Amino acid sequence: MVTSRLITPPPQPLGTIAALRTLRRNPAEYWPSGLYHGETFASPLMGRTFFETARPDHAKTVLLDKRDHFERSSLVKLMLGDALGDGLIVADGASWKKQRAIAAPIFRQDHLDDFLPVIDRAAVACVGRLGNTSGPQPMLPAMLDTAMDIIVETMFGAARFDRRQTIADIDLLLKAMGAPAMPDLLNLPGWVPRLGLAKGKAAATRLRAVCQHVLDAKRADGDSDGGMTARLLEARDPETGEGLSDEAIVDNIMTFVGAGHETTSAGLCWALYLIAQQPDLQSELTAQARNALCDPVGPQTMAQLDLHWRVFQEAMRLYPPIAAVSRNVAGGIEIDGQDLKCGDHVTLVIMAMHRNPDLWPDPDTFDADRFLPEAVKQRDRYAYMPFGAGPTICIGWKLAMMEATLILARLLEAFEFTPAQSRTPYPVVRVTTRPDDGMILNVSRRTDI
Ligand code: HEM
Repeated sequence: MVTSRLITPPPQPLGTIAALRTLRRNPAEYWPSGLYHGETFASPLMGRTFFETARPDHAKTVLLDKRDHFERSSLVKLMLGDALGDGLIVADGASWKKQRAIAAPIFRQDHLDDFLPVIDRAAVACVGRLGNTSGPQPMLPAMLDTAMDIIVETMFGAARFDRRQTIADIDLLLKAMGAPAMPDLLNLPGWVPRLGLAKGKAAATRLRAVCQHVLDAKRADGDSDGGMTARLLEARDPETGEGLSDEAIVDNIMTFVGAGHETTSAGLCWALYLIAQQPDLQSELTAQARNALCDPVGPQTMAQLDLHWRVFQEAMRLYPPIAAVSRNVAGGIEIDGQDLKCGDHVTLVIMAMHRNPDLWPDPDTFDADRFLPEAVKQRDRYAYMPFGAGPTICIGWKLAMMEATLILARLLEAFEFTPAQSRTPYPVVRVTTRPDDGMILNVSRRTDI
């Protein structure tokens, strides 16, 4: 068993200036230690209250029971709205409901299974990328490239477009979305300039044009494979029979690209880091991968990779790729004795919840058995939420789990990973929870295949 050290959270909430600076640099260093033990915090800023909690009962209140009292965080809307329009991650109310009903069927397991060959090709390409020589290598670039291959193929299929430019644009867009601008933190209106966003906007415009081009191609040639983009064109609300406008399809493809790329890559880096420190676990994973993997990979292969699945879940407990989920208060509500009014901001700090010793015995210790079915059944559903929870739970969670499981299996089939340095990688929250050093590990080809 390996014990993973996280950041040392501040013992007390930070003062306003330090809080603003720290939030921009790394919110993980801003959330006070009490959050890890079920305490809640309310801080006033520019006439609003910022309420922070990491308690499962509060998560259930916000995301399920009283969800009508909340709307998407204004901070998230200001950060993402330009690029993602009114896609699922920023939409509220009737607009969200309609889009979710139409998009949900294309994320059903039987539909996602069609993407297994694409994911497997990318996983095998990742093995090629890490090469034949032994030595230290940063994992993050390799994982980002692999997730990029998958997102481009699954979103646009075999449609024709400039792949290299598209990949460069997705990269630019994600960098521009990386951290909240100071005007966003201060809740200043959208017309106040945000530095560094111009490049991201230009990339978003070009990406939106690619999405539209794939839609046009699909319309012109009904048979062409346009991945999720073409599937969204055909998707209908099961109850009303309504479809999505082209603009809404483009918004959502942009959303899937933004939400599905870096999250999975970051999770994979932390999983490999944790595996590299546990030789026995690694041998078990290698044996399971060799036993299960075949050509072509199918749903039965995935069913045999259960240890890989659990290891990725435990890695996301210790290092949740999305460290927190937030909402604005839309109608007055009381939580934990705190009166919250319209416009106040609530943050559910997943990173702290996942390390609360009252919810997770030995919270810093890696133990994939926490995700055996009997253990999961006994736990509060709202104590583990790397993908959020309630009706707005991540629509892509099954795709992400398939992707991570298969990539881990292909990598562990081919390589042995060991720690490359004594220093512990440091988690930095910039949209996702990234390792500060790109996650350098020793990678050596297994010769016993
Ligand atoms: C390990 C990978 C992933 C993680 C950790 C993750 C995490 C999350 C979380 C925490 C939320 C909830 C946000 C909130 O309630 O405000 C969310 C929502 C969402 N995610 Fe993911 N995600 C991952 C992969 C993906 C993928 C692969 C896609 C699509 C291809 C995707 C698309 C979305 C969308 C569209 C939403 C908004 C859903 C809605 O509000 O109806 N995510 N994700």
